[in-house]
Amino acid sequence: MSRYKIAILPGDGIGNDVMEAAHIVLNTLALDAEYLPGDIGWECWKNEGNPFPDRTKQLLKETDCCLFGAITSKPNQDAQKELKPSLQGKGIVYQSPIVQLRQEFNLHTNIRPCKAYPGNPLNYRDDIDLVVFRENTEDLYTGVEFHPVPKIVFDALMTHKKMKTFANTPLDEMAISCRIITKKAAHNIIKNAFKYAQQHHRRSVTLVEKPNVLRETSGLMLEEGRKLAAEYPDIPFKEVNVDAMCMWLVKNPQDFDILVASNMFGDIISDLAAQLVGGLGFASSGNIGDSYAVFEPTHGSAPKYAGQYKVNPMAMLLTVKLMLDWLDEKKRATHLEDAIAQVIIEGKVRTYDMGGTNTTLDIARAVAHKLEKQ
Ligand code: NAI
Ligand code: MG
Repeated sequence: MSRYKIAILPGDGIGNDVMEAAHIVLNTLALDAEYLPGDIGWECWKNEGNPFPDRTKQLLKETDCCLFGAITSKPNQDAQKELKPSLQGKGIVYQSPIVQLRQEFNLHTNIRPCKAYPGNPLNYRDDIDLVVFRENTEDLYTGVEFHPVPKIVFDALMTHKKMKTFANTPLDEMAISCRIITKKAAHNIIKNAFKYAQQHHRRSVTLVEKPNVLRETSGLMLEEGRKLAAEYPDIPFKEVNVDAMCMWLVKNPQDFDILVASNMFGDIISDLAAQLVGGLGFASSGNIGDSYAVFEPTHGSAPKYAGQYKVNPMAMLLTVKLMLDWLDEKKRATHLEDAIAQVIIEGKVRTYDMGGTNTTLDIARAVAHKLEKQ
């Protein structure tokens, strides 16, 4: 029996291209693992009316972790049109499998490293090494939204004095999203950021919120942040408002290290941070829970490049590195990162985004070749 069971969900679009690249590197790494493929994404939606079938959920329950490619999501009207005829008009609603995955498997911690590898022509600066910790299950993305607003919800909200502004707005002329943040999740994400900072000897932890305006929700994050900072007196703790953070990340990204934020702010700053070190072709991520984790490149399915083997697989290969870290395969993780770094600095094989003409699989083979030589 293999040491690990790993679910492989390529998804659709370039998810398939980059997963093939991942296989080349995984084979060379000779990890003692069984790889179990599963279905997810747009084809499942079109043919089954469910982009995340129950058999795939079951597969995840039977594995140690999952490597995920990318999937396509479309607005509700377009999604309905693409359902196969026998499924149309039945009131089946599209739900993002990624959000489902994160919520159903309680993958509360989203970790997104953004490191400038020397020699990458896309680096904004060469001394950037950020890791974003983004809370993954709550906040505005929980999806507790109303439009039109039910009377009972409106009446309850009217007990808040700031609602007076909307007292005369018709219920079907307003939409409401709820920003829900629990103490448990706030504590958890910030604790994980500090733990990571300690284990990896990082320089600082910065909480990115907006407590001066979002006094209760961001306020709760700040309260937990300050309590935890006191438990880690050796790690400098900074508090920066999310708007200012966007400016500082462009002005002095080298001054920051670990960034921690609630779901939406984390989403926004991690895209900004990713672009500083080469963009979507380099952005890896892990969705980590207490006993299960799903690793995925940050990019989507890029339909216009699907099946063309044009896109950069570095994001996926760095994602494999994150998975190896999580499996405690430290040696293989380090070897893989070294091999990736060598291919980048040599600059001989490059995909279009780096100004080259090589294919997705050329890059994977170059990384595999470096691994063989180590
Ligand atoms: P996208 O990330 O798929 O692509 C945007 C553009 O970024 C591409 O057209 C391409 O120019 C570039 N790009 C993306 N990955 C790249 C790579 N590895 N190498 C080089 N260039 C790369 O985002 P978009 O176009 O907004 O969404 C396309 C579909 O993907 C949508 O259906 C969206 O819902 C879905 N999506 C899925 C995600 C996931 O599976 N986690 C995340 C984001 C979007
Ligand atoms: Mg995003």
